[in-house]
Amino acid sequence: MTAAIDFDAIPRDRLPALLRRMPKAELHVHVEGTLEPELIFRLAERHRVPLAWASVDALRAAYAFADLQSFLDVYYAGAGVLLHEQDFFDMAWAYFERAAADNVVHAELFFDPQTHTARGVPIEAVIVGLHHACRRAHQEFGITAKLILCFLRHLSEDAAFATLEQALPYREHFVGVGLDSSELGHPPGKFARVFARCGELGLHRVAHAGEEGPAEYIRDALDVLRVERIDHGVRCVDDPALVQRLARERVPLTVCPLSNVRLRVFPSLGQHNLPALLDAGLCATVNSDDPAYFGGYVNDNFVQAFAALPQLGARQAWQLATNSFEASFAPDADKRRWAAELERAFAAA
Ligand code: HPA
Ligand code: ZN
Repeated sequence: MTAAIDFDAIPRDRLPALLRRMPKAELHVHVEGTLEPELIFRLAERHRVPLAWASVDALRAAYAFADLQSFLDVYYAGAGVLLHEQDFFDMAWAYFERAAADNVVHAELFFDPQTHTARGVPIEAVIVGLHHACRRAHQEFGITAKLILCFLRHLSEDAAFATLEQALPYREHFVGVGLDSSELGHPPGKFARVFARCGELGLHRVAHAGEEGPAEYIRDALDVLRVERIDHGVRCVDDPALVQRLARERVPLTVCPLSNVRLRVFPSLGQHNLPALLDAGLCATVNSDDPAYFGGYVNDNFVQAFAALPQLGARQAWQLATNSFEASFAPDADKRRWAAELERAFAAA
């Protein structure tokens, strides 16, 4: 498929426009992490929910994170303004408008039901509101949008089972399950039984692993949870045999460069290991994670990572977009169509 593209003929100064224009799939975005400060304040006023911050600017100023936990504390507080089905629709719709502008053709969105059900919000309001936004994204933008239900790993496996039970009446509205929240001290094995049950139910399985946690958590996510993708996974490089296995089995990694810098997984974008992951033959992808909190949506992640890392050029741009389609849970016919669109974007570069 690549034979027709002369990557070396594409000058570096055309890369930002090409990165923005190329079709791509986004596979690692928490919908609660797309809640912009302005919408947090609008929803707080709508529902007369008190906020710990006096203004949008004060809230933005709180986005200086030392690590994953210091981010999660703010992220869960921000999600406290989401009460009704309309709020979940509004949040997801705002994301899809940005995704369409970034030429995202397919998106798989994480959502955290426990963050809401713990506050008395019915799971129906969460799932139905998000589902309606996904349906409209397809109608208006042609984006195929899917939902992935995440279990919070700082809570118990019994709580995950209870959440799964509550969600099953809406089974047709989500394609898989994931595992997120505080990684250290909450290894994948804690959720072995609930992931096995999800496998029996025919749900796709993914998990955050190797963001702050060790490479061993990536192995356990594969062997114990039997996941099909690893979210983040950047710490795989600590275990060369694991890197070889990930490459051989083509286990995708959903990498989030701006998130990794904001949460201090890497000191700067220029020190990110994305080029090394691609050089090792891994099916790495670029994603935004929590774009409202980490300074940018998926195209910002692409453009800023490519600007900071001279090893990344047109060939890697094509590879990352191609990987995003391969790693998605979309049908093969869609993948072939997007591959053809990608060819056309590069032919015009
Ligand atoms: N890691 C773990 N949990 C999360 C994240 C993340 O980057 N974003 C939202 N929940
Ligand atoms: Zn994440």
